[in-house]
Amino acid sequence: MVQDIVSKYKELYRLDPVVVRSPGRVNLIGEHTDYNNGFVLPAAINKEIYFALAPNGTNLFNVYSYDLEETASFDLDKIEKSDIRWANYLLGVIAQLQRAGHTIKGFNLVFGGDIPIGAGLSSSAAVECGLAYGLNYLYALNIDKLDLVKMAQKAEHEFAGVMCGIMDQFTSMFGKYDRVVKLDCRSLDYHYYDLDMHDYRIVLLDTQVKHSLASSEYNTRRQECETGVAILNKHYPEVNSLRDATLEMLAQHQSEFDPVVYKRSKYVVEENLRVEGACQDLERKDMAAFGEKMFASHQGLQHDYEVSCPELDFLADLAKKNEAVLGARMMGGGFGGCTINLVKLDQVGPYIQTMEDAYEQQFGIKMKAYIAEIVNGSSLVSSPVS
Ligand code: GLA
Repeated sequence: MVQDIVSKYKELYRLDPVVVRSPGRVNLIGEHTDYNNGFVLPAAINKEIYFALAPNGTNLFNVYSYDLEETASFDLDKIEKSDIRWANYLLGVIAQLQRAGHTIKGFNLVFGGDIPIGAGLSSSAAVECGLAYGLNYLYALNIDKLDLVKMAQKAEHEFAGVMCGIMDQFTSMFGKYDRVVKLDCRSLDYHYYDLDMHDYRIVLLDTQVKHSLASSEYNTRRQECETGVAILNKHYPEVNSLRDATLEMLAQHQSEFDPVVYKRSKYVVEENLRVEGACQDLERKDMAAFGEKMFASHQGLQHDYEVSCPELDFLADLAKKNEAVLGARMMGGGFGGCTINLVKLDQVGPYIQTMEDAYEQQFGIKMKAYIAEIVNGSSLVSSPVS
């Protein structure tokens, strides 16, 4: 893959580029908690995007998307949202760097990779983080990684219109080989945990569906959570996000809540507790207990947070009945994309086959399956001067 990107770069631009990579992510548990200032437990995975870039001595940003086989060119003095949707993730990053006072001189970019789009593996965060990392290196901007993450997140807010939390960009940048990272999305403190994967694999089952309501419903969920916070805040001034709320507080004031807002809030409080519990399970190496929390997370996402869909529910239900699986649940924003499954190593092949057959029979759709390995976050692959 990386060779193809570099060859294309040389063919188009006749220079030796800097090459960086940035991965997609999985999330073991802690869904829709990041924008509620809560906890998540993601990891970067071996689905990645590569970027080849070098200055071009002009004031233009020329880009070639290897996967789409499309080019585009932009004047760096006039960076704004474009009609070319795929370019907006890149333009958003440039805009953030410029806004922070950095001069971005003209450069040529070829990028591409193997993170499936719309599968909930954060291809957009990988694009944003990869370019931020690449430009930081290319122009020696000296921006620390956490600030790059924040810029990448803002790029998504302002140029892609999704008010995402910080999990995806953080993971793409800070992921660590063979570790999951527990991130406190309020303090941004983080801690890496060993995932005891001797006997298990992370299997992603891609429904191949992406319901179009995903981003509007995402923003609606954020508002519903804010409504819940506003009710609790009247009684408990210390509650400034659902992270600060407890199940007791919610139960105490249930009558003041719209039932939907109540369900949403309860889910978030419970999911944060599950992340804390799941980390203790990891410390005790109790993968069975960890897996049970994944199943419970799916139940909450399906019934209380209501961000699942029939295809995801089908896969999660079937997984629960299968002895090969320790835990499974929908992953990411929802309404399509993948389930994440912790599967016993010696049963991975047969499990995938069973699920593929059942899914095709039920929905007439050929599912895709990926075995995810945990890798490092954004990094330099090669540099002509190093
Ligand atoms: C998307 C967002 C993340 C997070 C998840 C849900 O992936 O980009 O910030 O909110 O949904 O956990």
